Amino acid sequence: MLNNKSILITGGTGSLGKELTKTILENWPDVKRLVIYSRDEQKQFQMAQEFPESKYPAIRYFIGDVRDLERLKRAFNDIDYVIHAAAMKHVHIAEYNPDECVKTNIGGAENVIKACLSSNVTRVVALSTDKACAPINLYGATKLTSDKLFIAANNIKGKQNIKFSVVRYGNVMGSNGSVIPFFMNKKQEGVLPITDPNMTRFNISLKGGVDMVLHALDEAWGGELFVPKIPSYKITDVAEAIGPNCKQEIVGIRPGEKIHEEMITASDSFTTYDLGKYYVILPQVTNWNLDEYISNFNAKKVPVGFYYNSGDNEEWETVDSLRGLIKEHLYPDFTV
Ligand SMILES: NC(=O)c1ccc[n+]([C@@H]2O[C@H](COP(=O)([O-])OP(=O)(O)OC[C@H]3O[C@@H](n4cnc5c(N)ncnc54)[C@H](OP(=O)(O)O)[C@@H]3O)[C@@H](O)[C@H]2O)c1
Repeated sequence: MLNNKSILITGGTGSLGKELTKTILENWPDVKRLVIYSRDEQKQFQMAQEFPESKYPAIRYFIGDVRDLERLKRAFNDIDYVIHAAAMKHVHIAEYNPDECVKTNIGGAENVIKACLSSNVTRVVALSTDKACAPINLYGATKLTSDKLFIAANNIKGKQNIKFSVVRYGNVMGSNGSVIPFFMNKKQEGVLPITDPNMTRFNISLKGGVDMVLHALDEAWGGELFVPKIPSYKITDVAEAIGPNCKQEIVGIRPGEKIHEEMITASDSFTTYDLGKYYVILPQVTNWNLDEYISNFNAKKVPVGFYYNSGDNEEWETVDSLRGLIKEHLYPDFTV
């Protein structure tokens, strides 16, 4: 799928970007170019130790900000596929610095779309988050706006051969700033802070996130918002899995946080389809035939009123399964 293609990842030095890079280089050795686009030279320098240009001749490290349209246009020269992962993603930082978050997450999305439309890019996948579903914080609201921009970009592409789609998922286990590394660091202190004992979150591994992105890149017809079916966990179970002897201290919910996350609301149910391993929210306006889509993917319409919420998910991680995942995906030497 990706051999002889040139791919650019905005936010390529981030958690998802690095896992994507690893997967692409391992599975498509004849990828033409893999461009890592981000701002911080130090992160690129460190990533280049892991993925050196000498060993991976396809890889390029390109310094740039998604707020800079001209730089994006230059970077997108001769690129086939774009994966847009760059974002400000910390809820409380976005609450405190709202205009910065707007500039990166909304302005950046607009610029990526404009740069795609003035280049020969043919496929674009933008990353969304469960926090964009019925958002109550600025991060989620900016990502919802970004989702809408990418989906609507299919309507303004004219005759250009390009498809924009979105992938939405929940907490990525072990990603930068996430709860598992946080608890692993705190564990020595004997106390793990719990915002709310009822709190639940969706859980996906980095590999699961990468698989969903690659699937969207390969299969999207344009305008879909893909949602993988993934388990939930209780935050108290994560604490118990990591520090069974630690005291769990209730510290209260932080600004902009929800007790449960949602990925599909009841209002989305009118355009949501079950495709087996994942759901897809289809756009209101399409430039393809809905019946053909349904028959091609054997898509089943979800019942009206259906919603997908981490608090009443059908699939759950347990303390034991979380320990297994932590060992398998994050800390091979993990014991309790
Ligand atoms: N991690 C999760 O749990 C999770 C869950 C759902 C969705 N997502 C979404 O998935 C995407 C990737 O998340 P992640 O966990 O990989 O994030 P991450 O580890 O924080 O990485 C973010 C990346 O974006 C780059 N970046 C930030 N601002 C930029 C800008 N203005 N211009 C260019 N690059 C910029 C960063 O590099 P520099 O700072 O060097 O520029 C870094 O490479 C995000 O869109 C996020 O909203 C994440």
